[in-house]
Amino acid sequence: MANVIVVGTQWGDEGKGKVVDLYAENADVISRFQGGNNAGHTLVVKGVQTILHLIPSGILHDQKICVIGNGVVVDPQVLLDEIDKLTSRGLFPPNTSLYVSEKAHLIMPYHRRLDLAREGRRGGGKIGTTGRGIGPAYEDKVARTGIRVGDLFDSDSFREKLVRNLEEKNFLLTNYFGEERVDPEAVFTEYHGYGERLLPFVTDTSVILHRELRRGRKILFEGAQGCHLDIDHGTYPYVTSSNTVAANAFSGTGLGPAGNFTVVGICKAYTTRVGSGPFVTELSCEIGRRIQDAGQEFGATTGRKRRCGWLDMVLVRHAIRVSGITGIALTKLDVLTGIEKIKICVGYQTARGERINFAVPANLQVLANCEPVYEEIDGWTEDISQARRIEELPKNVRKYLERIETMADIPLVLVSVGAARNETIVLKNPFIS
Ligand code: GDP
Ligand code: IMO
Ligand code: MG
Repeated sequence: MANVIVVGTQWGDEGKGKVVDLYAENADVISRFQGGNNAGHTLVVKGVQTILHLIPSGILHDQKICVIGNGVVVDPQVLLDEIDKLTSRGLFPPNTSLYVSEKAHLIMPYHRRLDLAREGRRGGGKIGTTGRGIGPAYEDKVARTGIRVGDLFDSDSFREKLVRNLEEKNFLLTNYFGEERVDPEAVFTEYHGYGERLLPFVTDTSVILHRELRRGRKILFEGAQGCHLDIDHGTYPYVTSSNTVAANAFSGTGLGPAGNFTVVGICKAYTTRVGSGPFVTELSCEIGRRIQDAGQEFGATTGRKRRCGWLDMVLVRHAIRVSGITGIALTKLDVLTGIEKIKICVGYQTARGERINFAVPANLQVLANCEPVYEEIDGWTEDISQARRIEELPKNVRKYLERIETMADIPLVLVSVGAARNETIVLKNPFIS
Protein backbone atom coordinates (compact mmCIF):
# COMPACT_ATOMS: atom_id res chain seq x y z
CA MET A 1 0.00 0.00 0.00
CA ALA A 2 1.48 3.31 -1.07
CA ASN A 3 1.18 6.75 0.43
CA VAL A 4 0.29 9.41 -2.10
CA ILE A 5 1.69 12.89 -2.72
CA VAL A 6 -0.51 15.13 -4.87
CA VAL A 7 1.14 18.12 -6.57
CA GLY A 8 0.21 20.61 -9.27
CA THR A 9 2.14 20.39 -12.55
CA GLN A 10 1.37 23.87 -13.89
CA TRP A 11 0.79 27.26 -12.21
CA GLY A 12 -1.76 26.11 -9.66
CA ASP A 13 -5.55 25.64 -9.80
CA GLU A 14 -5.22 22.35 -11.64
CA GLY A 15 -7.99 20.75 -9.57
CA LYS A 16 -5.88 19.44 -6.68
CA GLY A 17 -8.75 19.97 -4.21
CA LYS A 18 -11.16 17.84 -6.23
CA VAL A 19 -8.66 15.00 -6.62
CA VAL A 20 -7.51 15.09 -2.97
CA ASP A 21 -11.14 14.98 -1.81
CA LEU A 22 -11.71 11.96 -4.05
CA TYR A 23 -8.52 10.17 -2.97
CA ALA A 24 -9.24 10.94 0.71
CA GLU A 25 -11.82 8.16 0.63
CA ASN A 26 -8.88 5.70 0.51
CA ALA A 27 -6.60 7.56 2.92
CA ASP A 28 -6.46 7.76 6.71
CA VAL A 29 -4.49 10.98 7.06
CA ILE A 30 -4.54 14.02 4.77
CA SER A 31 -1.80 16.61 5.23
CA ARG A 32 -0.93 20.00 3.76
CA PHE A 33 2.83 20.63 3.74
CA GLN A 34 3.43 24.10 2.27
CA GLY A 35 1.82 27.34 1.20
CA GLY A 36 -0.91 29.05 3.13
CA ASN A 37 -4.21 30.69 2.38
CA ASN A 38 -2.92 31.79 -1.01
CA ALA A 39 -4.32 28.36 -1.97
CA GLY A 40 -7.96 27.95 -2.93
CA HIS A 41 -8.99 24.31 -3.32
CA THR A 42 -12.50 23.68 -4.58
CA LEU A 43 -14.56 20.61 -3.72
CA VAL A 44 -17.99 19.86 -5.15
CA VAL A 45 -19.86 17.11 -3.33
CA LYS A 46 -23.55 16.34 -3.84
CA GLY A 47 -23.98 19.67 -5.60
CA VAL A 48 -22.46 21.68 -2.75
CA GLN A 49 -19.30 23.70 -3.37
CA THR A 50 -16.70 24.18 -0.62
CA ILE A 51 -13.53 26.23 -1.08
CA LEU A 52 -10.71 25.44 1.33
CA HIS A 53 -7.70 27.69 1.86
CA LEU A 54 -5.88 26.03 4.76
CA ILE A 55 -7.74 22.97 5.97
CA PRO A 56 -6.80 19.81 4.03
CA SER A 57 -9.28 18.69 1.39
CA GLY A 58 -10.00 15.45 3.26
CA ILE A 59 -12.07 17.29 5.86
CA LEU A 60 -15.45 16.38 4.39
CA HIS A 61 -14.85 12.68 5.05
CA ASP A 62 -15.63 10.78 8.26
CA GLN A 63 -12.92 9.33 10.45
CA LYS A 64 -9.90 11.03 8.94
CA ILE A 65 -6.97 12.84 10.47
CA CYS A 66 -6.31 16.20 8.79
CA VAL A 67 -2.94 17.81 9.39
CA ILE A 68 -1.56 21.29 8.72
CA GLY A 69 2.16 20.58 8.64
CA ASN A 70 5.12 22.65 9.79
CA GLY A 71 5.85 23.84 6.23
CA VAL A 72 2.54 25.72 6.00
CA VAL A 73 2.24 29.41 6.91
CA VAL A 74 -0.88 29.89 8.99
CA ASP A 75 -3.08 32.97 9.18
CA PRO A 76 -4.92 32.08 12.40
CA GLN A 77 -7.93 34.25 11.64
CA VAL A 78 -8.45 32.53 8.29
CA LEU A 79 -8.03 29.11 9.87
CA LEU A 80 -10.56 29.84 12.62
CA ASP A 81 -13.03 31.28 10.10
CA GLU A 82 -12.65 28.15 8.00
CA ILE A 83 -13.25 25.90 11.02
CA ASP A 84 -16.33 27.96 12.00
CA LYS A 85 -17.80 27.98 8.50
CA LEU A 86 -17.37 24.24 8.02
CA THR A 87 -18.83 23.55 11.47
CA SER A 88 -21.84 25.80 10.97
CA ARG A 89 -22.56 24.13 7.61
CA GLY A 90 -22.31 20.69 9.24
CA LEU A 91 -19.29 19.86 7.09
CA PHE A 92 -16.74 19.17 9.85
CA PRO A 93 -17.45 15.56 10.81
CA PRO A 94 -17.21 15.14 14.61
CA ASN A 95 -15.11 11.98 14.25
CA THR A 96 -12.56 13.64 11.96
CA SER A 97 -9.67 15.41 13.70
CA LEU A 98 -7.68 18.45 12.69
CA TYR A 99 -4.13 19.05 13.94
CA VAL A 100 -1.92 22.07 13.36
CA SER A 101 1.85 21.92 13.71
CA GLU A 102 3.28 23.96 16.55
CA LYS A 103 6.20 24.68 14.22
CA ALA A 104 4.12 26.22 11.43
CA HIS A 105 4.89 29.92 11.06
CA LEU A 106 2.22 32.51 11.65
CA ILE A 107 1.14 35.09 9.13
CA MET A 108 1.03 38.36 11.05
CA PRO A 109 -0.88 41.55 10.10
CA TYR A 110 2.42 43.23 9.14
CA HIS A 111 3.11 40.42 6.65
CA ARG A 112 -0.09 41.22 4.80
CA ARG A 113 0.64 44.94 4.94
CA LEU A 114 4.17 44.47 3.59
CA ASP A 115 2.98 42.12 0.84
CA LEU A 116 0.52 44.73 -0.42
CA ALA A 117 2.90 47.67 0.05
CA ARG A 118 5.67 45.91 -1.91
CA GLU A 119 3.34 45.00 -4.73
CA GLY A 120 2.19 48.63 -4.85
CA ARG A 121 5.81 49.79 -5.14
CA ARG A 122 6.60 47.33 -7.93
CA GLY A 123 3.89 48.90 -10.11
CA GLY A 124 3.93 47.31 -13.58
CA GLY A 125 6.59 44.82 -12.48
CA LYS A 126 4.43 43.39 -9.73
CA ILE A 127 4.29 39.64 -9.12
CA GLY A 128 0.53 39.67 -8.73
CA THR A 129 0.59 37.99 -5.33
CA THR A 130 -2.59 37.02 -3.54
CA GLY A 131 -1.85 39.75 -0.96
CA ARG A 132 -2.18 37.28 1.89
CA GLY A 133 1.27 37.96 3.39
CA ILE A 134 2.73 34.65 2.24
CA GLY A 135 6.08 35.97 0.97
CA PRO A 136 6.86 38.16 4.01
CA ALA A 137 5.92 35.31 6.40
CA TYR A 138 8.32 32.89 4.68
CA GLU A 139 10.98 35.63 4.61
CA ASP A 140 10.82 35.91 8.39
CA LYS A 141 10.97 32.13 8.75
CA VAL A 142 14.19 31.99 6.77
CA ALA A 143 15.55 35.11 8.49
CA ARG A 144 14.96 33.31 11.82
CA THR A 145 12.71 36.07 13.09
CA GLY A 146 9.41 34.33 12.45
CA ILE A 147 6.75 33.67 15.07
CA ARG A 148 5.41 30.14 15.18
CA VAL A 149 2.00 28.73 16.12
CA GLY A 150 3.54 27.29 19.30
CA ASP A 151 4.68 30.79 20.35
CA LEU A 152 1.03 31.77 20.87
CA PHE A 153 1.05 29.80 24.11
CA ASP A 154 3.93 31.60 25.81
CA SER A 155 2.66 35.15 26.25
CA ASP A 156 5.92 36.69 27.41
CA SER A 157 8.07 35.37 24.63
CA PHE A 158 5.30 36.02 22.08
CA ARG A 159 5.12 39.69 23.13
CA GLU A 160 8.90 40.01 23.09
CA LYS A 161 9.20 38.57 19.56
CA LEU A 162 6.33 40.70 18.34
CA VAL A 163 7.75 43.93 19.75
CA ARG A 164 11.20 43.18 18.34
CA ASN A 165 9.81 42.37 14.89
CA LEU A 166 7.59 45.43 14.82
CA GLU A 167 10.52 47.75 15.52
CA GLU A 168 11.92 46.79 12.14
CA LYS A 169 8.64 46.30 10.26
CA ASN A 170 7.20 49.62 11.44
CA PHE A 171 10.36 51.38 10.37
CA LEU A 172 9.93 49.90 6.90
CA LEU A 173 6.19 50.51 6.74
CA THR A 174 6.35 54.15 7.83
CA ASN A 175 9.70 55.37 6.50
CA TYR A 176 10.00 53.42 3.28
CA PHE A 177 6.43 52.69 2.23
CA GLY A 178 4.76 55.71 3.82
CA GLU A 179 2.18 53.50 5.53
CA GLU A 180 0.72 53.61 9.03
CA ARG A 181 2.51 51.78 11.81
CA VAL A 182 1.16 48.56 13.32
CA ASP A 183 0.39 48.70 17.05
CA PRO A 184 2.08 45.80 18.92
CA GLU A 185 -0.46 45.75 21.77
CA ALA A 186 -3.42 45.48 19.41
CA VAL A 187 -1.75 42.58 17.57
CA PHE A 188 -0.85 40.93 20.86
CA THR A 189 -4.44 41.02 22.08
CA GLU A 190 -5.82 39.81 18.76
CA TYR A 191 -3.37 36.90 18.50
CA HIS A 192 -3.72 35.97 22.15
CA GLY A 193 -7.42 35.40 21.42
CA TYR A 194 -6.59 33.23 18.41
CA GLY A 195 -4.17 31.21 20.54
CA GLU A 196 -6.89 30.42 23.08
CA ARG A 197 -9.14 29.06 20.34
CA LEU A 198 -6.42 27.19 18.47
CA LEU A 199 -4.91 25.45 21.49
CA PRO A 200 -6.88 22.17 21.15
CA PHE A 201 -5.65 21.70 17.57
CA VAL A 202 -1.95 22.41 18.08
CA THR A 203 0.62 19.67 18.56
CA ASP A 204 3.82 18.11 17.18
CA THR A 205 2.23 16.84 13.97
CA SER A 206 5.40 15.03 12.88
CA VAL A 207 4.86 12.60 15.77
CA ILE A 208 1.25 11.95 14.71
CA LEU A 209 2.19 11.37 11.08
CA HIS A 210 5.05 9.07 12.03
CA ARG A 211 2.82 7.08 14.39
CA GLU A 212 0.14 6.65 11.71
CA LEU A 213 2.70 5.65 9.10
CA ARG A 214 4.15 2.99 11.40
CA ARG A 215 0.67 1.65 12.02
CA GLY A 216 0.35 1.12 8.28
CA ARG A 217 -2.16 3.92 7.85
CA LYS A 218 -2.27 5.63 4.47
CA ILE A 219 -1.10 9.21 4.20
CA LEU A 220 -2.24 11.59 1.47
CA PHE A 221 -0.13 14.72 1.06
CA GLU A 222 -1.90 17.70 -0.48
CA GLY A 223 0.32 20.10 -2.39
CA ALA A 224 -0.72 23.69 -2.93
CA GLN A 225 0.12 25.92 -5.92
CA GLY A 226 1.99 24.15 -8.73
CA CYS A 227 5.45 23.19 -9.94
CA HIS A 228 6.03 26.40 -11.88
CA LEU A 229 5.22 28.51 -8.81
CA ASP A 230 7.95 26.67 -6.86
CA ILE A 231 10.53 29.02 -5.34
CA ASP A 232 13.43 27.01 -6.86
CA HIS A 233 11.97 25.18 -9.84
CA GLY A 234 9.37 27.69 -11.05
CA THR A 235 9.45 30.83 -13.19
CA TYR A 236 11.35 32.87 -10.59
CA PRO A 237 10.65 35.58 -9.46
CA TYR A 238 7.04 35.11 -10.62
CA VAL A 239 6.53 32.32 -8.11
CA THR A 240 5.29 31.80 -4.58
CA SER A 241 7.64 31.65 -1.59
CA SER A 242 7.66 27.92 -0.83
CA ASN A 243 8.77 24.70 -2.46
CA THR A 244 5.70 23.25 -4.10
CA VAL A 245 7.43 20.12 -5.43
CA ALA A 246 6.82 16.65 -3.97
CA ALA A 247 10.09 16.50 -2.01
CA ASN A 248 8.77 19.19 0.32
CA ALA A 249 6.04 16.81 1.48
CA PHE A 250 8.75 15.39 3.75
CA SER A 251 10.42 18.49 5.18
CA GLY A 252 7.05 20.24 5.31
CA THR A 253 5.60 17.57 7.59
CA GLY A 254 8.59 16.13 9.45
CA LEU A 255 8.63 12.69 7.84
CA GLY A 256 11.52 11.00 6.06
CA PRO A 257 11.32 9.79 2.46
CA ALA A 258 11.94 6.14 3.31
CA GLY A 259 8.83 4.10 2.64
CA ASN A 260 6.33 3.57 -0.09
CA PHE A 261 5.37 6.87 -1.69
CA THR A 262 3.88 7.61 -5.07
CA VAL A 263 3.44 11.03 -6.68
CA VAL A 264 0.37 12.05 -8.66
CA GLY A 265 0.71 15.21 -10.75
CA ILE A 266 -2.51 17.11 -11.35
CA CYS A 267 -2.65 18.57 -14.83
CA LYS A 268 -5.39 20.65 -16.40
CA ALA A 269 -6.25 19.69 -19.98
CA TYR A 270 -5.11 23.24 -20.88
CA THR A 271 -3.03 25.79 -18.96
CA THR A 272 -3.96 28.69 -16.69
CA ARG A 273 -2.02 31.23 -14.67
CA VAL A 274 -3.08 33.90 -12.17
CA GLY A 275 -0.75 36.83 -11.62
CA SER A 276 2.20 37.98 -13.70
CA GLY A 277 4.99 36.10 -15.45
CA PRO A 278 5.76 34.48 -18.79
CA PHE A 279 3.22 32.10 -20.31
CA VAL A 280 4.35 30.63 -23.63
CA THR A 281 1.02 29.10 -24.72
CA GLU A 282 -1.20 31.95 -23.52
CA LEU A 283 -4.16 32.65 -25.80
CA SER A 284 -5.26 36.25 -26.03
CA CYS A 285 -7.77 35.41 -28.76
CA GLU A 286 -11.38 34.21 -28.79
CA ILE A 287 -10.42 30.61 -27.89
CA GLY A 288 -8.69 31.84 -24.72
CA ARG A 289 -11.84 33.70 -23.71
CA ARG A 290 -13.94 30.67 -24.54
CA ILE A 291 -11.81 28.41 -22.31
CA GLN A 292 -11.87 31.05 -19.57
CA ASP A 293 -15.64 31.13 -19.77
CA ALA A 294 -16.32 27.39 -20.11
CA GLY A 295 -13.78 26.57 -17.39
CA GLN A 296 -15.05 29.33 -15.09
CA GLU A 297 -11.43 30.37 -14.72
CA PHE A 298 -11.64 32.82 -11.87
CA GLY A 299 -9.29 32.55 -8.88
CA ALA A 300 -10.76 30.61 -5.94
CA THR A 301 -8.86 32.91 -3.54
CA THR A 302 -8.85 36.37 -5.10
CA GLY A 303 -11.55 36.08 -7.76
CA ARG A 304 -9.09 37.34 -10.39
CA LYS A 305 -9.51 36.19 -14.00
CA ARG A 306 -7.10 33.39 -14.79
CA ARG A 307 -5.05 33.74 -17.96
CA CYS A 308 -5.70 30.74 -20.26
CA GLY A 309 -3.72 28.89 -22.93
CA TRP A 310 -3.11 25.52 -24.58
CA LEU A 311 -1.68 22.55 -22.73
CA ASP A 312 2.10 22.96 -22.50
CA MET A 313 3.94 19.64 -22.30
CA VAL A 314 7.29 21.34 -21.66
CA LEU A 315 5.84 22.58 -18.36
CA VAL A 316 4.38 19.16 -17.58
CA ARG A 317 7.57 17.21 -18.41
CA HIS A 318 9.58 19.63 -16.26
CA ALA A 319 7.15 19.01 -13.39
CA ILE A 320 7.32 15.23 -13.84
CA ARG A 321 11.11 15.41 -13.54
CA VAL A 322 11.43 17.73 -10.54
CA SER A 323 8.66 16.08 -8.51
CA GLY A 324 9.28 12.46 -9.54
CA ILE A 325 5.67 12.20 -10.68
CA THR A 326 4.57 8.63 -11.42
CA GLY A 327 1.02 9.22 -12.67
CA ILE A 328 -0.99 12.09 -14.17
CA ALA A 329 -4.50 13.09 -13.14
CA LEU A 330 -5.90 15.07 -16.06
CA THR A 331 -8.65 17.52 -15.11
CA LYS A 332 -11.20 19.78 -16.80
CA LEU A 333 -11.21 17.77 -20.02
CA ASP A 334 -14.90 18.65 -20.46
CA VAL A 335 -13.96 22.32 -20.85
CA LEU A 336 -12.37 21.63 -24.26
CA THR A 337 -15.61 20.15 -25.68
CA GLY A 338 -16.73 21.99 -28.80
CA ILE A 339 -13.35 23.39 -29.80
CA GLU A 340 -12.75 22.35 -33.41
CA LYS A 341 -8.95 22.00 -33.35
CA ILE A 342 -7.04 21.52 -30.10
CA LYS A 343 -3.36 22.34 -29.82
CA ILE A 344 -0.75 20.77 -27.58
CA CYS A 345 2.57 22.50 -27.11
CA VAL A 346 5.22 19.83 -27.66
CA GLY A 347 8.30 22.06 -27.43
CA TYR A 348 9.64 25.62 -27.52
CA GLN A 349 11.66 27.37 -30.19
CA THR A 350 14.01 29.92 -28.64
CA ALA A 351 14.79 33.26 -30.27
CA ARG A 352 18.18 31.75 -31.23
CA GLY A 353 16.47 28.90 -33.05
CA GLU A 354 17.13 26.20 -30.47
CA ARG A 355 14.50 23.59 -29.66
CA ILE A 356 13.52 22.90 -26.05
CA ASN A 357 11.43 19.87 -25.11
CA PHE A 358 11.89 19.07 -21.43
CA ALA A 359 13.23 21.89 -19.31
CA VAL A 360 11.68 25.34 -18.95
CA PRO A 361 14.54 27.86 -19.35
CA ALA A 362 15.59 29.49 -16.08
CA ASN A 363 16.33 32.78 -17.81
CA LEU A 364 13.01 34.61 -18.02
CA GLN A 365 14.13 36.72 -20.95
CA VAL A 366 14.83 33.56 -22.93
CA LEU A 367 11.53 32.05 -21.78
CA ALA A 368 9.52 35.14 -22.64
CA ASN A 369 10.90 35.00 -26.18
CA CYS A 370 10.18 31.31 -26.74
CA GLU A 371 7.66 30.39 -29.41
CA PRO A 372 5.45 27.35 -28.82
CA VAL A 373 5.75 24.42 -31.21
CA TYR A 374 2.27 22.95 -31.58
CA GLU A 375 0.78 19.68 -32.59
CA GLU A 376 -2.86 19.94 -33.62
CA ILE A 377 -5.52 17.33 -33.05
CA ASP A 378 -9.19 17.18 -33.96
CA GLY A 379 -11.59 18.21 -31.22
CA TRP A 380 -14.94 16.67 -30.26
CA THR A 381 -18.47 17.94 -29.78
CA GLU A 382 -20.02 15.19 -27.64
CA ASP A 383 -20.87 15.86 -23.97
CA ILE A 384 -18.32 13.83 -22.02
CA SER A 385 -19.37 14.77 -18.50
CA GLN A 386 -21.38 11.56 -18.04
CA ALA A 387 -18.47 9.25 -18.94
CA ARG A 388 -17.22 7.10 -16.06
CA ARG A 389 -15.09 4.69 -18.06
CA ILE A 390 -12.44 5.48 -20.63
CA GLU A 391 -14.26 3.36 -23.24
CA GLU A 392 -17.23 5.71 -23.00
CA LEU A 393 -15.18 8.63 -24.32
CA PRO A 394 -15.39 9.58 -28.02
CA LYS A 395 -12.50 8.56 -30.26
CA ASN A 396 -10.98 12.05 -30.56
CA VAL A 397 -10.95 12.48 -26.78
CA ARG A 398 -9.09 9.21 -26.39
CA LYS A 399 -6.60 10.35 -29.04
CA TYR A 400 -5.94 13.50 -27.02
CA LEU A 401 -5.39 11.42 -23.90
CA GLU A 402 -3.08 9.00 -25.72
CA ARG A 403 -0.95 11.86 -27.06
CA ILE A 404 -0.61 13.32 -23.55
CA GLU A 405 0.30 9.95 -22.07
CA THR A 406 2.90 9.29 -24.76
CA MET A 407 4.47 12.72 -24.39
CA ALA A 408 4.46 12.57 -20.59
CA ASP A 409 5.93 9.07 -20.72
CA ILE A 410 4.00 8.10 -17.58
CA PRO A 411 0.47 6.75 -17.27
CA LEU A 412 -2.73 8.70 -16.78
CA VAL A 413 -4.24 7.54 -13.49
CA LEU A 414 -7.39 9.68 -13.48
CA VAL A 415 -9.44 11.78 -15.89
CA SER A 416 -11.81 14.42 -14.57
CA VAL A 417 -14.81 15.40 -16.70
CA GLY A 418 -16.62 17.76 -14.32
CA ALA A 419 -16.19 19.61 -11.03
CA ALA A 420 -18.19 17.13 -8.94
CA ARG A 421 -16.54 14.32 -7.00
CA ASN A 422 -18.30 11.66 -9.09
CA GLU A 423 -17.56 13.26 -12.48
CA THR A 424 -14.38 11.24 -12.68
CA ILE A 425 -12.84 8.33 -14.53
CA VAL A 426 -10.44 6.51 -12.21
CA LEU A 427 -7.92 4.47 -14.18
CA LYS A 428 -5.66 3.39 -11.35
CA ASN A 429 -5.90 3.71 -7.59
CA PRO A 430 -2.54 5.22 -6.56
CA PHE A 431 -2.79 3.78 -3.04
CA ILE A 432 -2.33 0.35 -4.58
CA SER A 433 1.19 0.44 -6.01
P1 GDP B 1 -6.85 23.71 -7.03
O1 GDP B 1 -6.33 24.99 -6.49
O2 GDP B 1 -5.81 22.93 -7.79
O3 GDP B 1 -7.53 22.86 -6.00
O4 GDP B 1 -7.96 24.09 -8.11
P2 GDP B 1 -9.13 25.19 -7.91
O5 GDP B 1 -10.16 24.64 -7.02
O6 GDP B 1 -8.53 26.52 -7.57
O7 GDP B 1 -9.63 25.35 -9.40
C1 GDP B 1 -10.16 24.28 -10.11
C2 GDP B 1 -11.60 24.65 -10.53
O8 GDP B 1 -12.05 23.74 -11.50
C3 GDP B 1 -12.60 24.55 -9.39
O9 GDP B 1 -13.62 25.48 -9.61
C4 GDP B 1 -13.14 23.13 -9.52
O10 GDP B 1 -14.44 22.97 -8.97
C5 GDP B 1 -13.17 22.98 -11.02
N1 GDP B 1 -12.93 21.62 -11.53
C6 GDP B 1 -12.11 20.64 -11.07
N2 GDP B 1 -12.10 19.59 -11.91
C7 GDP B 1 -12.94 19.91 -12.92
C8 GDP B 1 -13.33 19.24 -14.14
O11 GDP B 1 -12.89 18.16 -14.46
N3 GDP B 1 -14.19 19.92 -14.94
C9 GDP B 1 -14.68 21.15 -14.65
N4 GDP B 1 -15.51 21.72 -15.51
N5 GDP B 1 -14.34 21.79 -13.53
C10 GDP B 1 -13.47 21.19 -12.70
P1 IMO C 1 -3.69 26.78 -5.45
O1 IMO C 1 -3.21 25.91 -4.31
C1 IMO C 1 -2.79 29.80 -8.46
C2 IMO C 1 0.23 32.79 -7.42
C3 IMO C 1 -0.24 34.21 -7.29
C4 IMO C 1 1.02 34.94 -7.73
C5 IMO C 1 2.14 34.09 -7.15
C6 IMO C 1 2.67 34.59 -5.81
O2 IMO C 1 -5.12 27.17 -5.34
O3 IMO C 1 -3.33 26.16 -6.76
P2 IMO C 1 1.72 34.57 -3.32
O4 IMO C 1 0.48 35.19 -2.74
O5 IMO C 1 1.81 33.10 -3.15
O6 IMO C 1 2.97 35.27 -2.89
O7 IMO C 1 1.61 34.87 -4.91
O8 IMO C 1 1.58 32.80 -6.97
N1 IMO C 1 -0.50 31.80 -6.58
C7 IMO C 1 -1.40 30.93 -7.05
N2 IMO C 1 -1.90 30.80 -8.31
N3 IMO C 1 -3.17 28.95 -7.49
C8 IMO C 1 -2.64 29.06 -6.24
O9 IMO C 1 -2.87 28.16 -5.27
C9 IMO C 1 -1.75 30.11 -5.97
N4 IMO C 1 -1.08 30.54 -4.86
C10 IMO C 1 -0.30 31.55 -5.25
O10 IMO C 1 -1.32 34.48 -8.14
O11 IMO C 1 1.14 34.89 -9.14
MG1 MG D 1 -6.79 27.01 -6.47
